[in-house]
Amino acid sequence: MSDPETFLTVKPRGRLVGREVGRLAYGCWRLPGTPQDALRGKIDAALEIGANIIDTAAVYGAGAAEEMLGVLLSERPSFRDEIVLVTKGGITPPVPYNSSRQELIASCEASLRRLKSDAVDVFLVHRPDFLTSPAEVAEALNELIWSGKTHAVGVSNYSPEQTRALQSFLDVPLAVTQPEFSALHTQPLFDGTLDHAQSASVIPLAWSPLAGGSLATGRAPDRADLRAAGLVAVLDRIANDNGSTRECVALAWLLAHPAGVVPIIGTQSPERIRAAAGAFEIKMSRRDWYEILEASRGERMP
Ligand SMILES: NC(=O)c1ccc[n+]([C@@H]2O[C@H](COP(=O)([O-])OP(=O)(O)OC[C@H]3O[C@@H](n4cnc5c(N)ncnc54)[C@H](OP(=O)(O)O)[C@@H]3O)[C@@H](O)[C@H]2O)c1
Repeated sequence: MSDPETFLTVKPRGRLVGREVGRLAYGCWRLPGTPQDALRGKIDAALEIGANIIDTAAVYGAGAAEEMLGVLLSERPSFRDEIVLVTKGGITPPVPYNSSRQELIASCEASLRRLKSDAVDVFLVHRPDFLTSPAEVAEALNELIWSGKTHAVGVSNYSPEQTRALQSFLDVPLAVTQPEFSALHTQPLFDGTLDHAQSASVIPLAWSPLAGGSLATGRAPDRADLRAAGLVAVLDRIANDNGSTRECVALAWLLAHPAGVVPIIGTQSPERIRAAAGAFEIKMSRRDWYEILEASRGERMP
C-alpha cells in the first residue's frame, strides 16, 4: 500500500514561444471598469510571483481590457519583453461565435492595434464556432503565424476532438489549450482535455481557477452552491494543516495535476495576486487531492 502522506510534486516551469513561463498566469477579464492607474501594480505583483503569462481577449470589455494593456505597454515598453501576451478572438456579439478566416484575422489585427503591439505571443480561438470548418480556422491561424502577427496559436473551450481536428490542418503545433478548470469545475479531468494536452505537449491554462471566487466565498450560483460549501470545508481543513488559505489549496490542487496546468488568476487585488504564490508551499497528499475531488463530485470515487 502506498503511503498517503507522500506529497504530490508540482511540475516545474514550462516553456512557451521559447520563453520560460510561470506556473501561474494573470487574467484581464475583470480589468474593464477598474482604474488604469492600478493596472501597473497588478502586473508588477503578477511578475513578482512569476506569473508572466498575461491572458486577455478581444471581447473583454468590448476591447477595453486590451486597450488598458496597450496604454500600459506604451507607457512602459519594457513590459512587453517581460510578459508572454495571450489574446483571443472569435466571440462576436450579438452573434455568439465567428471563427471564419476573415473574422479571426481582423480580430487579431484589431487586438494588436489596441495592444499597441506588432505581435502577440499566443492567439487563441476563444470558443468553437460550429459554422466554420476546422480547415478554415486553421487557414486563419496559419496566416497569422506566417505574417508574424502571433508567435503561436491555441484554443479555448475546445473539446479534445475539436482540438485534434483543428490540429490536423495546422502548419504548427497548437501551443495552448484553455479550458474552465477548478476544484468546482472538474470536466477537463474526465473529458480527455488534460490527457490530450499531455500527449500533444500543449500547455493547459485553467480559466476561473477559483470558480470565479466561489471557492473563496463558498457561494456559487444555483445548485453548485451546496457542492461549493462542502468543498470549502475540505479546502479549509487542508489549508489549516498547512497554515495557509483555501484559495492557495484550490490553486495547489490544479498545480498538482501532471499535465502542468497553469491557473489564470483573476483577482483585481495586488495583495491577493501575491498571496497566490502560497499555493507553491502547500503540501498535498494523494489522499488530500482525491478528497477535494470527491467533495466536488459530492460522492466517493467509484
Ligand atoms: N477562455 C475563456 O472562455 C475564459 C472565461 C473566463 C475567464 N477566462 C480567463 O481566466 C481569468 C481568470 O478568471 P476569473 O477572474 O474568473 O478567476 P478566479 O481567480 O477564479 O476568480 C476571480 C474572482 O474571485 C474573487 N476572489 C479571489 N479571491 C477572493 C477572496 N479571497 N475572497 C473573495 N473573492 C475572491 C476576485 O475578486 P477580487 O478581484 O475582489 O479579489 C474575482 O472576482 C480571466 O481574467 C480570463 O483571463 C477565460
